[in-house]
Amino acid sequence: MPAAPRRIVVAVTGASGMPYAATLLRALARAEAVETHLILSDAAHAVMELEAGGADGTAPEGESPAAAPLTPAALAALAHAAYSQADIGAPPASGSWVHHGMVVCPCSMASLAAIANGLGTNLVHRAADVTLKESRPLVLVPRETPLSRVHLKNMLAAQEAGAVILPACPGFYHAPRTVQELVDQVVGRILDHLAVPHTLGPRWTGSAR
Ligand SMILES: Cc1cc2nc3c(=O)[nH]c(=O)nc-3n(C[C@H](O)[C@H](O)[C@H](O)COP(=O)(O)O)c2cc1C
Repeated sequence: MPAAPRRIVVAVTGASGMPYAATLLRALARAEAVETHLILSDAAHAVMELEAGGADGTAPEGESPAAAPLTPAALAALAHAAYSQADIGAPPASGSWVHHGMVVCPCSMASLAAIANGLGTNLVHRAADVTLKESRPLVLVPRETPLSRVHLKNMLAAQEAGAVILPACPGFYHAPRTVQELVDQVVGRILDHLAVPHTLGPRWTGSAR
């Protein structure tokens, strides 16, 4: 009998960094026995349109076609189900609907603040609140710089409530040659925290070459 799928909730909010979200969703779609539930915030739509290099979602000239398409519809096609932030009655809004982890990638400072303070006023924030109350893994991938005292306090509050704060902050020690390699490194760390096997990015095996 096949194993029950591992359910992962992915929320994409309106911070810069849509290639992280696209790479994450593609990796989850490739992973065996994973069922992905996608929530797109309204602001994510606007940022995605800018970061796709055009409303049609084609990659900017000179960039790898592997980066395209970057549209809400293309991302939704990679998921088992997709919801808007207004869909407050969707399955991830309830603790009785079991899942195995949620990631907010990228995570805006606005959504970070809402999650850190338990505001469940849209589906992204409610699903994160439910994930914390059910003691399931919650990974927040903030993308902002510099960070104000308010941002830092919200990060601490979210971490103290049980979230993992995993900034979109790739390292350079593996000598990346492309933007995609930098993106892969961050997404690989996210997948590690969700216990989803992957082959993204090299793993550190010690400094001896
Ligand atoms: C082009 C663009 C880029 C943005 N980048 C960021 C960002 O990197 N980090 C951030 O916290 N907010 C960023 N914002 C602001 C958020 O989109 C805004 O605070 C929004 O209300 C977040 O809503 P959401 O969390 O519901 O998606 C950006 C907005 C735009 C239009």
